Amino acid sequence: MVLPVYVYGSGVLKKEAAPVAQDYPALSQLIADMWETLYNANGVGLAAPQVGHTIRLIVIDASVFKDDDPLANGFKRVLINPELIDFSKEKSTFNEGCLSIPGIHEDIVRPKRVRVRYLDERFQPCDEWLDGIPARIAQHEYDHVEGILFTEHLAPIRRKIIASKLQTIARGKSGADYKTKVL
Ligand code: NI
Repeated sequence: MVLPVYVYGSGVLKKEAAPVAQDYPALSQLIADMWETLYNANGVGLAAPQVGHTIRLIVIDASVFKDDDPLANGFKRVLINPELIDFSKEKSTFNEGCLSIPGIHEDIVRPKRVRVRYLDERFQPCDEWLDGIPARIAQHEYDHVEGILFTEHLAPIRRKIIASKLQTIARGKSGADYKTKVL
């Protein structure tokens, strides 16, 4: 089922999410719904708070970027209770967008590589270094489970420039071509 995506202005996006317990009600259905919601909106990553669940759960499919970055080819993950445990000193800049902030794209600087420890959807422990676009998406989505939006990484002057667009989204006029919600 395609779920409505909570957009900028929703309190649920500003909360630190709770760890996922293995007996979280209907977890596999929620994961299936998150994939459907992600693909319906042509997104590359979605965190549970964006669909109203304040839990540390993320889905990522970077495949659409395969022509820009070979590392994105076939990169599909479910991350449960992810931790970013190491970062490269090297940074990269990427023009980010977010399904919760429709129509806004801004250059954001983040570490180029990141080591992530998480549980997969069978609750098996995983630990891997990510690079390129997969590392970028993982860091953006990790911010969501911490209650952080990518616009918070912008310099104050940039934030001022987009402030009125953000307010339009918060008033429910997102202009997105997928189901959205402000609460
Ligand atoms: Ni996002």
